[in-house]
Amino acid sequence: MSSRRTFAIISHPDAGKTTLTEKLLLQGGAIHLAGEVKARGQARRARSDWMKIEQQRGISVTSSVMTFERANPDGSTITFNLLDTPGHEDFSEDTYRTLTAVDSAIMVIDAAKGIEPQTRKLFEVCRLRSVPIITFINKVDREGRACFDLLDEVADVLALDVAPMSWPVGMGGLFQGALDLATGKISRPEGDSREFLGKVEDAGALPPEVAEELELAQAGYPEFDLEAYRGGDLTPVYFGSALKNFGVAALIEAIAAFAPPPRPQPADGGEISPDRDEVTGFVFKVQANMDPQHRDRIAFMRLVSGTFKRGMKLTPSGLGKPIAVHSPILFFAQDREIADSAEPGDIIGIPNHGTLRVGDTLSERNDVRFTGLPNFAPEILRRVALKDPTKTKQLRKALDDLSEEGVIQVFYPEIGSQWIVGVVGQLQLEVLISRLEAEYKVEAVLEGSPFDTARWLKGSDQALKDFADFNKMNLARDRDGDPVFMARSAWDVGYQQERNPDLTFSATKER
Ligand code: G4P
Repeated sequence: MSSRRTFAIISHPDAGKTTLTEKLLLQGGAIHLAGEVKARGQARRARSDWMKIEQQRGISVTSSVMTFERANPDGSTITFNLLDTPGHEDFSEDTYRTLTAVDSAIMVIDAAKGIEPQTRKLFEVCRLRSVPIITFINKVDREGRACFDLLDEVADVLALDVAPMSWPVGMGGLFQGALDLATGKISRPEGDSREFLGKVEDAGALPPEVAEELELAQAGYPEFDLEAYRGGDLTPVYFGSALKNFGVAALIEAIAAFAPPPRPQPADGGEISPDRDEVTGFVFKVQANMDPQHRDRIAFMRLVSGTFKRGMKLTPSGLGKPIAVHSPILFFAQDREIADSAEPGDIIGIPNHGTLRVGDTLSERNDVRFTGLPNFAPEILRRVALKDPTKTKQLRKALDDLSEEGVIQVFYPEIGSQWIVGVVGQLQLEVLISRLEAEYKVEAVLEGSPFDTARWLKGSDQALKDFADFNKMNLARDRDGDPVFMARSAWDVGYQQERNPDLTFSATKER
């Protein structure tokens, strides 16, 4: 069986994702990065700082993919690939796409807050793809809500079975450790900091209220079931404290023992298994302008099948002719390292000059097309106006680049010159303005657009032409030149759909 575990952490801001990431990496031996992850988490909280960080692209890139290893008792090793999901308040396409590249996820919940909006959205994305979830209820070293409350909330809100795997012995000031329900051992806090420093004891006699809780819990919740977890129907739940290091080792064990190895991926003509001998993969993220002096990009490819070797020739679906991948990058926690080979589940960074795009398939024989990396219909549309009208060419280039990167979507109307950008979250607009200025020296303002949403159109040439005859004012082309209906309202979409049964109006577009 494969030794790779490729996963992401999903959470609402402030639940403790950065702290947990840091602790996982510390346990995995990637100590150097710990400070870096922390620095990033702090910066992210202040939006202006975050912009600065984003502009120093290096940091977010090295921590986009974090790799650590753990030796098994039998001497084999397990390699963990932790993919960072951008932690912005707004849901972004970037986040969604990253989740298409993982095989499982850890959901971090703040014990005082329970399930928050972002947790829920990200969970729904995981569910769409049946990505199994391990739940970590964080911050039990502080006063939080009752364990039953939290477990029931996860079960009700997310419609999942919950199987508690550990239990806090007291919370907040009364916290006396975390009980592992499988072994009956308690991890104890030590010293002034009340951290877990390795002290593990037999549970012995528990405080009566805890003993009572446990009895109820064991009667009230199902036992862990591997198949139900892997099918996305059940989540094992760990209580812990990332800050004080409780439950972190248990999470690593859980991922090693339960999380699925690299999964087959959906493609035109059927799933591609990791056992296929051909090297295949897909690009789920492109990061541009990492070095402002050179307009280079890194395309992040998730390897789906085969053993990748440096120098190998792969054909990107968007290009049709092979490229030699001479200097691929494996994103190790501390450092970038040149990859000599990589296995299914690994992520490879491929430097390029804009030839590789999000959603591209790469394969040795150019005979595979992965599906399921959609663009989403934007929820916010804005017209882009230039402060200096002579900069049209630069603006077009910038909008093309940034849409390629997945920062925004761009729509060029058939009539008129009012280019429109679409995003799914407000923050993306701020990123757009800041990057236009910093990287393209283009000052732009965003104005209201008459349109409310957009739908990709599909149908015969004739059906499209008939539609265009009546609706030219509402037609645009996206970056690929594909036709898009710009709608004034959701009602407008429904109305046109009814009148044009030969066309499909799609809220997502798969490349
Ligand atoms: P995020 O990436 O999910 O946004 O969260 P992050 O790890 O940055 O944590 C948010 C805040 O919660 C931080 O406090 C962090 O120290 C705290 N925290 C994380 N895990 C735990 C935990 O297990 N117990 C307790 N008590 N706190 C935890 P902050 O005050 O906002 O930042 P800082 O100044 O402490 O860094």
